[in-house]
Amino acid sequence: MHKTLTLIAVMAAGSALAQQAADSVQPEAATTGGFAAMSPQVAAALQAKDAGLPVTGKTWMVAAANPHAVQAGADVLAAGGTAADALVAVQTVLGLVEPQSSGLGGGAFLVWYDAKSGQLTTLDGRETAPLAATPTRFQDDKGEPVQFYDAVVGGLSVGVPGTPALLASAHDTWGNRDWATLLQPAITLAQDGFDVSPRLAGLVAADAERLARFESTASYFLPDGQPLQAGARLTNLGYADTLQMLAQDPSAFYTGEIAQDIIDTVNGAVPAGGLLTPLDFSLYSTRERPAVCAPFRGHDICGMGPPSSGALTVGQILGMLDSYDLEALGPADPQAWRLIGDASRLAFADRGRYMADSDFVPMPTKGLVDPAYLADRAKLLAGDDALPEVSPGTPAWDHAMLWADDESIELPSTSHISIADSYGNVASMTTTIENGFGSRLMVRGFLLNNELTDFSFRTHADGVPIANRLEPGKRPRSSMAPTIVMRDGAPVLAIGSPGGSRIIGYVAQAIVAHLAWGMDVQQAVAMPHAVNRFGNYDLEAGTAAADLQGPLEAMGFEVETRDLNSGLHAIEIGDGLQGGADPRREGIALGDD
Ligand code: GLY
Repeated sequence: MHKTLTLIAVMAAGSALAQQAADSVQPEAATTGGFAAMSPQVAAALQAKDAGLPVTGKTWMVAAANPHAVQAGADVLAAGGTAADALVAVQTVLGLVEPQSSGLGGGAFLVWYDAKSGQLTTLDGRETAPLAATPTRFQDDKGEPVQFYDAVVGGLSVGVPGTPALLASAHDTWGNRDWATLLQPAITLAQDGFDVSPRLAGLVAADAERLARFESTASYFLPDGQPLQAGARLTNLGYADTLQMLAQDPSAFYTGEIAQDIIDTVNGAVPAGGLLTPLDFSLYSTRERPAVCAPFRGHDICGMGPPSSGALTVGQILGMLDSYDLEALGPADPQAWRLIGDASRLAFADRGRYMADSDFVPMPTKGLVDPAYLADRAKLLAGDDALPEVSPGTPAWDHAMLWADDESIELPSTSHISIADSYGNVASMTTTIENGFGSRLMVRGFLLNNELTDFSFRTHADGVPIANRLEPGKRPRSSMAPTIVMRDGAPVLAIGSPGGSRIIGYVAQAIVAHLAWGMDVQQAVAMPHAVNRFGNYDLEAGTAAADLQGPLEAMGFEVETRDLNSGLHAIEIGDGLQGGADPRREGIALGDD
C-alpha cells in the first residue's frame, strides 16, 4: 500500500480543502433516508459516508451509485462470486433504479485486474454507429452543427448498445456463478417494485418536457401525465421480461425480438428517426484491448485507451504533474491548482486533436503517454501564472497524419462501479447511456443511449479532418476513465466517475488527493472539486474550492463557480479494503467487515 500522510498531518498543514473533505456534509442527505431501512449494513455505510469515513472490508468490497445495486453485488461477493459476477448484478439493478444514467441500452468500459494471471486488461463495450450513418448526421442543410438537444432526443443519436455484450463477455471469461442467477436480483426488484429515490424524482421533474415526447417513456416516468414522485413504488415489468429473456440467452439482445424492438423504436422515432438495421446488431462485439498506463508517484495509473480518451488524458495530467512537488504545496495552495489546471489544459489540447476510435483513425497512443514527451510538456508548467496560450503537442507517431481540433459536447450523466473480490480480482467499470435519460427513447423497460452525440458534429476544420468525426461502425470518443492504480504489479486502487468530460478532472484530482496528499478514499472522493478542461477553471460552488477563485483569476485563469456533480466510487486495496462513495450521489460502499 502506498505511504499516506495522515489526515491529522493534512489538517495540520492548514488545508481548508482537506478539512472540508473530512467534514463533508452529504448534500443529498435527504435522498438516503429510505435506503437506510434496507439493512443494517446499508444504514452503517450511509452513516460512514455522512461522517466522511471510508467503509472497510476484509476480502471483498463493492462501491456504486445506488444502495440496491451495491447490495445485489455484495450478496454475490459474499456467496463466493467473482467481481465479474457482481458486476452483472450491480449493472442490471442500476439499469432499473438509476435508469437515467446507465443500462442495457448503453455502453461501458471495464478495466479488469485478473488475480490468477496477474494481468490487467480492458473490455470495450462502447456503442457503434449504424452502418448507414453518415459523417454529416448532426449538421443542417448548410453544413452547420444542429442544436445539441435536437441531435440528442430521438433516434438519430442511438448507437448499437454494448453493455449487454460486455456483461456477458466479462461473465464468460471471469465469472464463476450461474449467469441467470445474477439477473435475478434485478428481475425480483423490477417485479416487486422499488421506491423512487428523490434524486430520480428530481431528474424526471427537471426533464419532464423531453420525457413526454415519446409514449412509452412518458407512461413510465410521467404516469397520468405527472412526474414520478419520490417514495412512489415503481415496478418495471417490461424490464423484468427483458432480463428473463437474457437469463435464458444473453446473446438474445442482439438477435430476434429485442434487437428488432430497438430498431423499430429508433427508426420510427418522430421527428428524428434513426437508421439501425439487424446487421448493425449482428456485427456488434465487445473488444478486449490493452490497458493504457502512465506513471505517477511510483504507481502505474492504468485505464481505458481508445475509443476512450480517459486513460490517456488522466495519464497525461498525472504524468506532467509527477515532476512537481504537490506534496510540499498541499491542497490549499493555489499554485498546486495552477499546476493541475494547466496540466489539464495541455492534456485536453492533445485530446481534442488526437483522440478518437483508433480502429478507424491512426492515433499516437504510445506517444501521448511517453514519459519523455510528458516530461517535455511538463516544462511548460514551470512559471507562476496560467499559460497564456495552450496548444496540442507533437507526440511521437509512427504514422504521419494531420488532424483538426475536435468539437463535441458531453454533458454529465453516467455511473461508476468499483469492485474487489475475495480472489484478488478487481473491476473498475464506467457505464453510461450518455445524456441523463439518453435519447429519451424507451423500449422493453430500458432507455436507449444518445452516444452518437459524443462524436464531433463537424467533420472538418479548415479542410482538415477531425479524428472524432462520425463514421459508419465507429465508436464515439469517450471521456470515461475507469481506472486501476497499480504498484509493483499489484492493484492498489480502483476508481472512476461520471461527469462527461469533467470525469477526467474528477478522477485525476482524486488520485492526486489520495497518492500525493494522503487522503483516504472517502476524503479523496468527497474533496471539493476544481476542474479545468480547455476553457474555464470550474470551482465547486458552496465549497472551499470556491475560495480559489480570486487567486486563480489573479494568475490569469478564467474562473466559474458552479455545481460539479461527480459520482466517484473508489476502493483502496492494501492489507484490507477501504471504500469511498461520492457524497454528491446516493451510492455507498459495502465490504465484508
Ligand atoms: N458519454 C460520456 C462519455 O462517454 O464520456
